[in-house]
Amino acid sequence: MKITNSYFKLKKINEKYNLLNKNLRILELGSYPGGWDSYLKEKNIFNFISIDIKDFKNKNFLKGSFNNNFIKKKLKIYLIKKVDLILSDSCPKLTDSKNLNKIYLERHLKKIILFSFEFLKSKGSILFKTMNYLDNEIIFFSSKFKYFKRINFVKKKRSSEVFILLKNFLK
Ligand SMILES: C[S@@+](CC[C@H](N)C(=O)[O-])C[C@H]1O[C@@H](n2cnc3c(N)ncnc32)[C@H](O)[C@@H]1O
Repeated sequence: MKITNSYFKLKKINEKYNLLNKNLRILELGSYPGGWDSYLKEKNIFNFISIDIKDFKNKNFLKGSFNNNFIKKKLKIYLIKKVDLILSDSCPKLTDSKNLNKIYLERHLKKIILFSFEFLKSKGSILFKTMNYLDNEIIFFSSKFKYFKRINFVKKKRSSEVFILLKNFLK
């Protein structure tokens, strides 16, 4: 069992939004060092594939960027069907410059959304992490929000992290 700070973030979100159940097929982007995996297993969820650019000893793990074509090809072989839920705690390397970080994060989040369009089934959901200073990104996502029926922003006091939960993918 790996109990990380991230473990408690997912636990809190799940307790509020009742996101997880054992019948779901899940893709997890940015899984190292394994806090979310531990939480999934604790909830009796084993039907998931985790991906990280860092190496990680785990069953059903793919090493690489989720956006890499080779990884996507592998996923298409492993997955018989599209998944019910995409979880992303992944984040690009941030710098001291907020302006640069905005660019990196926006680029990263666009990749997550495009990835979801490829791998998420109709009526599925995405949970992903972003930062509260991304105005342009919010505009970008507003235009994509029409593809989902429900949106929730999960914020924590005194933290710049924001989790966005998009539910009920309209495909
Ligand atoms: C905050 S950590 C995840 C913590 C994890 N959820 C846990 O509970 O232990 C973010 C992870 O995202 C990974 N990451 C960043 N960009 C990625 C990408 N493009 N593809 C896959 N993993 C990525 C990093 O290597 C890092 O391990």
